Amino acid sequence: MSLVSALLAGLLAMVLAACDPGNSPRQTVDYPEMDSPAFQNYQAQCSECHVPPRTTAHTAPEWPSVIARMQQHRVQRRIAPMMAADMTVVRDYLVRNAATAEGS
Ligand code: HEC
Repeated sequence: MSLVSALLAGLLAMVLAACDPGNSPRQTVDYPEMDSPAFQNYQAQCSECHVPPRTTAHTAPEWPSVIARMQQHRVQRRIAPMMAADMTVVRDYLVRNAATAEGS
């Protein structure tokens, strides 16, 4: 193998590795309680319009009003609003994993 083709082979391997979905940065985002039904519900309810935000994007007292605003977005887009039971699970999940007041 010539030096050039060896370099090209190496480059191709790098490009292929970069295309591996397992290496995508989006997939390396870790959420709390990822094995739990609460997380499953959160992911289902909050990924229709954007990537689900990190639970630390808001403090516990802020989350309920954010969720209420998301309900309005659903209505505007003619998506059925979240059911009360799902909303409670999602709200509790976000609140117990929320940012602390100091902003951690
Ligand atoms: C029907 C579409 C839709 C769904 C479903 C949705 N969002 Fe959003 N979300 C939006 C839009 C549009 C924006 C940008 C405008 C805004 O901030 O209100 C946004 C922005 C946000 C932001 C960034 C703004 C901020 O206040 O920090 C957060 C956090 C967020 N959404 C959380 C959630 C959560 C939690 C859920 C699930 C309960 C959810 N979203 C479900 C449409 C949606």
